[in-house]
Amino acid sequence: MKVLVVGGGGREHALAWKLAQSPRVSRVYVAPGNGGTALDHRFECIDITQVVALREWAVTNGISLTVVGPEGPLAAGLVDEFRTHGLRVFGPTRAAARLESSKAFSKAFMKRHGIPTAEYETFTDPVAAHAYVQQKGAPIVVKADGLAAGKGVVVAMTVPEAHAAIDAMLGAATPATHAASDAKDTAPRVVIEEFLHGEEASFIVLCDGKNVTALASSQDHKRLLDGDQGPNTGGMGAYSPAPVVTADVHARAMREIILPTLKGMEKEGIAYTGFLYAGLMIDAGGRPKTLEFNCRLGDPETQPILLRLKSDLFGVLWAATEPGLHGRLDQVDLQWDRRTALGVVLAAHGYPASPRTGDVIAGLPAEADDCVVFHAATALRDRALRTTGGRVLCVTALADNVRLAQQRAYEAVRGISFDGMQYRRDIGHRAVK
Ligand code: AMP
Ligand code: GLY
Repeated sequence: MKVLVVGGGGREHALAWKLAQSPRVSRVYVAPGNGGTALDHRFECIDITQVVALREWAVTNGISLTVVGPEGPLAAGLVDEFRTHGLRVFGPTRAAARLESSKAFSKAFMKRHGIPTAEYETFTDPVAAHAYVQQKGAPIVVKADGLAAGKGVVVAMTVPEAHAAIDAMLGAATPATHAASDAKDTAPRVVIEEFLHGEEASFIVLCDGKNVTALASSQDHKRLLDGDQGPNTGGMGAYSPAPVVTADVHARAMREIILPTLKGMEKEGIAYTGFLYAGLMIDAGGRPKTLEFNCRLGDPETQPILLRLKSDLFGVLWAATEPGLHGRLDQVDLQWDRRTALGVVLAAHGYPASPRTGDVIAGLPAEADDCVVFHAATALRDRALRTTGGRVLCVTALADNVRLAQQRAYEAVRGISFDGMQYRRDIGHRAVK
């Protein structure tokens, strides 16, 4: 069967790599893909990104299953469009994707359904927002509403930082600018929330509208520099499993967060299908709270997670998309490699503020059983592999424990080079401790 993966990052390279291993898959197409998927004879890149054009292409080319990587096409209604035309696709509808695309929606949803998350208020009026910060003090977190690719969140350690974030997100406008009209729905909005203490983990599940299956736990490293310093990024590295997600934390996350979310969505008439990613903050007592929902797999978490997945991913997603009221994930039992997988992101010069492009990449190792380099912002140009954006590669290795996986990944990193290459030297540090 022919499979289409939508997206062009490291997550999509990993999805394509895993799907291609299925004996039931004859061809994997990636739209638009990247230099890594272009170089590999197992995949074919399709240069289409627009939703309707992609659906037409999928119909014409007899695609049996489509898997969507990034949030953009989900929020643009790709799943709705494909389903309307009878195509089998794994992902949430546009309405369900609001769990990620609108912070205001997801926070209000969690409140309605008693799902643990930080206390918060939503504002369109900058004056009220400033007053709220003044009253609450710091640390405090200011989030822009809408998809912001991880850049719309300011964790303000001081009150002036919080005020500056409000000005940047709402503009230093007077309340009259927004208040006068019924344009409230389109006015810029911020969510201001309580700062949560603890350790973060990524908890990702598959949903078929009724049944749910958890993927292995993982942990990302959001800051640019070693020791969790520097600016927030899309993620500088990840590993799986995350020891902070003990059996007890796992059970609580399912019982207190995932199941009430799926039930709540069903009750509101927006049955959830696809990957659901809960960013958790786990406090010292092992109590998980929801930092955010993403309606997709994490990047770079996907790379180590899929390196550990032993089950046939195509079979799993085929069951999840079985036609009918809901899929057959209840018949799926995921098998995991017991080893630890760890991925190190190699980022471009200037990332995250203004990544430079066009640098030539050298020294990529051949794929091995215990080490795979997944591409993200790369392209083949003039016969050379070049950088095209911020996160360039994710070097992912598998070994008996986190320390050995770290060693194996960094050993491969040492052979790779491009001008201005930056990466963290401490991926996995919490688990090593
Ligand atoms: P988000 O996009 O909402 O996950 O936020 C990005 C990052 O900001 C998270 O991964 C956390 O590291 C941090 N963050 C977000 N919300 C909070 C919070 N309420 N308390 C502490 N840190 C937070
Ligand atoms: N790694 C975090 C994310 O994918 O949003």
